[in-house]
Amino acid sequence: MCFALMEKMFAMLVLLILKSGTVGAGRSVTFENPNPCALKGSSVELRCSYNYTDGETVENTVWHKGELKNGTWRRVQLSDLPSYENRSEYFGDRQHNCGLAIHNLQDNDTGHYYFRFDTKTIGWRSKKSVYLTVTELRARVYPDNVRAGDYVTLECSTSCDFSTTVWFKDGRQVARLEFQAQAEDSGNYVCAVKGQESVRSDPVALEVHYPPLNVSVEMSYSGQLTVGSSVNLTCSSAANPAAHSYTWYSLGTASSVSSMLQVGSGQVLSLPSVDTSHTGLYFCQAANQLGENNSTEVLLTVDNPDISRVILFVGIGVKVFIVLLLPLVIIWLWRQKRNSAVDKEENSHDYENTPK
Ligand SMILES: *[C@@H]1O[C@H](CO)[C@@H](O)[C@H](O)[C@H]1NC(C)=O
Ligand SMILES: *[C@@H]1O[C@H](CO)[C@@H](O)[C@H](O)[C@H]1NC(C)=O
Ligand SMILES: *[C@@H]1O[C@H](CO)[C@@H](O)[C@H](O)[C@H]1NC(C)=O
Ligand SMILES: *[C@@H]1O[C@H](CO)[C@@H](O)[C@H](O)[C@H]1NC(C)=O
Ligand SMILES: *[C@@H]1O[C@H](CO)[C@@H](O)[C@H](O)[C@H]1NC(C)=O
Ligand SMILES: *[C@@H]1O[C@H](CO)[C@@H](O)[C@H](O)[C@H]1NC(C)=O
Ligand SMILES: *[C@@H]1O[C@H](CO)[C@@H](O)[C@H](O)[C@H]1NC(C)=O
Ligand SMILES: *[C@@H]1O[C@H](CO)[C@@H](O)[C@H](O)[C@H]1NC(C)=O
Repeated sequence: MCFALMEKMFAMLVLLILKSGTVGAGRSVTFENPNPCALKGSSVELRCSYNYTDGETVENTVWHKGELKNGTWRRVQLSDLPSYENRSEYFGDRQHNCGLAIHNLQDNDTGHYYFRFDTKTIGWRSKKSVYLTVTELRARVYPDNVRAGDYVTLECSTSCDFSTTVWFKDGRQVARLEFQAQAEDSGNYVCAVKGQESVRSDPVALEVHYPPLNVSVEMSYSGQLTVGSSVNLTCSSAANPAAHSYTWYSLGTASSVSSMLQVGSGQVLSLPSVDTSHTGLYFCQAANQLGENNSTEVLLTVDNPDISRVILFVGIGVKVFIVLLLPLVIIWLWRQKRNSAVDKEENSHDYENTPK
């Protein structure tokens, strides 16, 4: 009697264990990547699938976040957290897909996420969680204050393990992460993860110091100058720091190229009243703390109006001379011809008169 009872109880226990066993084995939640890492400001997809016994109908699905409240961890529905409003999107269904997307990620989205589904008979919570890490990109350029020619290194760091990062300067991709800085490398640099270029680090600045480059002279007047007119020559250059001193040189006229003179200083060389002695080649030298450089030469030509008047008068004289002289020459030539004809006649007479 007692034995029979024990046997019955044992059978019931086995049945209970078996039943709960089958219930447990049929239900599961699987996270594709339990430790995703994503950039602040980007979107992440928590891919997830779930399973249950055939014939069951799913009535509800919920994502939770693990929150520490009063010293204990609790699972709070995302729909109860205002900061996830409009940013979280369930792209799963009521069959087997339980994916969740979170957009415009914030630092405090870092944490544990859990999935739960309810069927008619039971609610099933995932035992494990997805642990999401939200990170930022930190761009660094070092050293960030260099002289032209110095080596510079770009470094982009995050707590995630991204395969490739890319760099941009003023919207253009940077080819090399280590280079010798040139004047035009000054500017702001940002880094991004390849494939997610819209999410960028805060910019970092690189400043390159260099001696004057592209030194050039601009003349306030182009073409020929006449004696007494005024002209300004302005020296400009690219330099960092900006050029602080300027020196002007003149190479004299073409006939005496060897004579080089220092003719002034300051960014503008002002010649208020030029004369022919100002004709020549000019160049400026711009200098800053790092060095100096010269512009190319510009030619200044001053026209002497007296000389041109002489040339003008000589021209007129020649024309007048030709106009007056030509008829005289023609007349003279005509007379010559006539005279020779008369001579011939006379000569023939002479022949006739020649005594035989
Ligand atoms: C889901 O459960 C069914 C049985 O209920 C099983 O045949 C199937 O392999 C399970 N799928 C997964 C992905 O576990
Ligand atoms: C936290 O604990 C305090 C007392 O220690 C209690 O007054 C408060 O209601 C608790 N808050 C929550 C959210 O449980
Ligand atoms: C979410 O979107 C709705 C409708 O666009 C808007 O009214 C609401 O203010 C938004 N909530 C937040 C927290 O941005
Ligand atoms: C997360 O941070 C944002 C601002 O960065 C804040 O508005 C939000 O309330 C925070 N959420 C939580 C759950 O602390
Ligand atoms: C110098 O001039 C060249 C050609 O015009 C230009 O490409 C370069 O950027 C200039 N350098 C600086 C420092 O402005
Ligand atoms: C002078 O400037 C030119 C370009 O304008 C540059 O190529 C050259 O290297 C510079 N020279 C020095 C000494 O800086
Ligand atoms: C040259 O510069 C001076 C001031 O530095 C100005 O008064 C003058 O009008 C300028 N002359 C020309 C021709 O630009
Ligand atoms: C610029 O010209 C000056 C004077 O001729 C000369 O001493 C100097 O070496 C030149 N500088 C450069 C960089 O060519």
